[in-house]
Amino acid sequence: MTRHTPDGPLTDGAPLPRPFDEAFASDPHAVYRRLREKGSVHRVALPDGSPVWLVTHEADVREGLADPRLSVDKRHSTTGYTGFSLPSALDRNLLNIDPDDHRRLRRLVSHGFTPRRVEQLRGSVQDIVDGLLSDVARAMDARGEADAVAAFATPLPLRVIGSLLGVPHVDQDRFSGWVTAMLAPRGHAELVDAIGRIHRFLVDLVADRRAAPGDDMLSDLIAARDEGDRLTEDELVSLAFLILLAGSENVQHVIANGLLTLLTHPGQLAELRERPALFPAAVEELLRHAQPIQTTIRRFATEPVEFGGVVIPAGDTVLLCLASAHRDPARYPEPDRFDIHRADTAHLALGQGMHYCLGAPLARLQITLALRTVLDRFPGLRTARPADELPWTTTFRFHALRELPLTTAP
Ligand code: HEM
Repeated sequence: MTRHTPDGPLTDGAPLPRPFDEAFASDPHAVYRRLREKGSVHRVALPDGSPVWLVTHEADVREGLADPRLSVDKRHSTTGYTGFSLPSALDRNLLNIDPDDHRRLRRLVSHGFTPRRVEQLRGSVQDIVDGLLSDVARAMDARGEADAVAAFATPLPLRVIGSLLGVPHVDQDRFSGWVTAMLAPRGHAELVDAIGRIHRFLVDLVADRRAAPGDDMLSDLIAARDEGDRLTEDELVSLAFLILLAGSENVQHVIANGLLTLLTHPGQLAELRERPALFPAAVEELLRHAQPIQTTIRRFATEPVEFGGVVIPAGDTVLLCLASAHRDPARYPEPDRFDIHRADTAHLALGQGMHYCLGAPLARLQITLALRTVLDRFPGLRTARPADELPWTTTFRFHALRELPLTTAP
């Protein structure tokens, strides 16, 4: 059978295009531009060979996020999904579960992340920001420069989400190292090792909290399991895993990518320093322009679904490309331009619909406090190396700075 896609006739067995190659790593937006110009929906292979449908136009990505025919449950995959998989004790999380289980689990944690609850954390988040920036200032005094990724963007969200969940301070750095290894492994052995360590760490943490409950979210979830039987043990560990992972990785990358974006747009940076009231709009523009997430979690068509004139067969894997949607000229005029005065500040960086980011208010609070405080505290801040020499990790999942050396030296 032959089906047609924007890339030509699709013949079963023919090799698929592989857009996530070396050229992609050096300029992902050029690849997305070419794909968008051909059409919205493309049948492509991921680097491991798995076939997926990549949706690139903003209108289709937005529609896809709200479409109940796209399930996140792997049981709907008929193509023997071979992508990123986790042991079941980490896999029973919100991003793999459809209603009604999704609703039950999300309700157990959502009250901890409402805008009102998050606003109560403002003081403690600011304290963490201030403490870390004192370390950054000391490093700059001692060595002339400091890496904002290692010294600031990475520990900040881990401390915030770690203290909410009840993860001891000493374990936060170890957890961060395993997550980095899991998301961008140098090989299969490193991936398996990192997942194993994260799993053991969380199982031990749950056992510790069960023995000695504290005033934290994990202790509350354990009580919901043990006293109310409202979730299984795998669901409990998986929820803790997702909250720790999603709550730290993405915030870290938005702060680092965002800070670089501001430092490379000195005119808008000066405006922001002068008029802090512009911050909320600037944060939204950073989430559109500099956010790290390239594609959403994979989804599976539960029935044939038509997008942009292409019919995706039931059981196939779909990736909604947020990064491409954010640069779609059909939605955003001059989409590659970073502009804090943009009239249309809406974006899909935090998802939409049922899986809309649980931590959106917490993410915005941390990004705002982190960037404002950095700009206030270091008036002469600049990158210690030319911006185009900085190292990035770029995969079909995320695009993130690995190092951001900063200096205030003239
Ligand atoms: C700027 C930082 C962040 C970004 C860009 C981000 C982005 C996203 C996106 C795009 C989704 C939807 C994924 C999909 O539909 O496939 C999502 C879901 C989620 N996010 Fe965030 N996130 C951020 C921060 C956080 C924080 C701080 C938390 C802390 C709890 C968090 C927890 C979650 C959870 C638990 C989900 C799954 C929700 C569900 O399936 O019901 N995220 N996030």
